[in-house]
Amino acid sequence: MGCTAGCGLSAAQCAASPAGCVSWSHCSGVVMTLLQVEHVSRAFGSQTALQDISFSVSKGDSVGIIGRSGAGKSTLLRCLNGLERPQSGRILLEGEDLATLPEDRLVTLRRRIGVVFQHFNLLNARTVAANVALPLEIAGVAKEQRTRRVAELLELVGLADHARKYPALLSGGQKQRVGIARALAANPSLLLCDEATSALDPETTASILALLADINRTLGLTIVFITHEMDVVRQLAHHVLVLDKGRIVARGTPADILDAAEPTSEPALPAGFSTIHTPNAQTVLRLGLSTQDLVSQLLAQLAHQHQTNATVLATRLHAHQSVPELDVLVQIANPSEESLTFLKNASQSVEVIGYVPADS
Ligand SMILES: Nc1ncnc2c1ncn2[C@@H]1O[C@H](COP(=O)(O)OP(=O)(O)OP(=O)(O)O)[C@@H](O)[C@H]1O
Ligand SMILES: [Mg+2]
Repeated sequence: MGCTAGCGLSAAQCAASPAGCVSWSHCSGVVMTLLQVEHVSRAFGSQTALQDISFSVSKGDSVGIIGRSGAGKSTLLRCLNGLERPQSGRILLEGEDLATLPEDRLVTLRRRIGVVFQHFNLLNARTVAANVALPLEIAGVAKEQRTRRVAELLELVGLADHARKYPALLSGGQKQRVGIARALAANPSLLLCDEATSALDPETTASILALLADINRTLGLTIVFITHEMDVVRQLAHHVLVLDKGRIVARGTPADILDAAEPTSEPALPAGFSTIHTPNAQTVLRLGLSTQDLVSQLLAQLAHQHQTNATVLATRLHAHQSVPELDVLVQIANPSEESLTFLKNASQSVEVIGYVPADS
């Protein structure tokens, strides 16, 4: 029997695949995997930046990576680009492992990856055309062919009339168009963008996003991008990964991730709720959790390890620093210091918000 999501593998092979179903959750038909990330971890000293990251990206997909500051987004992108080596795990780009490839072969493989930077990283002493030509020069492409390719690329990004200008004379949006043209010069199979629009105003952002979406659609180029702007995710991503503390805490379509995070009304507080502690009162805590799955898991552990029963009063999804977070109100009788410490370690945040009479 085949995988029900249609990833092209048998159900058994798909279930055994370390990166999970390559079709994510919404696919029909056979999907070609371009990039397969398996159990990638990276630490800097005692600081964990990435922990057991697994996902795969199909050809032609556009994947947005979101997460609060320090979540590990740039580290992950640098690993995908071969600039950073993970300490464990594999990163297969069209079957070749970026994580373990010798340096000389990595240089060649990296030509298949284009990178667009937040601050453009153009060379000011070179014209627009010469900036775009740079990766072709490095790759040893003949001058005539280079000139032809640069003209083609400048046409694609709408800068055909600016070829001889220097970057200082360009607007931010135009500079980023040069950055995109340069990233596409060597015909990469994967385009990586780290906050490509965060230095731009909203109107320019929209035009750059339209260009990237067009490149994704018409050239079928696979894009993996980091952003902290939810509008960028909505406009460009087919799939979203949410990173937190170096782990993937949620994945799905933009609708799955973002609509769930739309702010809703405050959860109702229980009858008799007060911020003043009275004898025998039960404590009401607000836990900040990253996913729904954690709620039952956490409360089961609390009961098992700390003999403490908690009743869920209400849950609410909201966006915290652009990342979906679940607020869970729980009621607990006499929580011990140990059980509170356990909850603090397992949650993003824990707050005692008040008390209710024991019988409510
Ligand atoms: N070269 C490095 N040396 C030491 N620690 C690092 C290094 N690079 C990243 N880190 C640490 O790894 C963690 C993840 O950092 P990373 O830059 O990947 O986060 P990020 O999600 O891109 O954050 P931001 O949104 O602020 O750009 C952080 O705790 C960071 O301090
Ligand atoms: Mg970063």
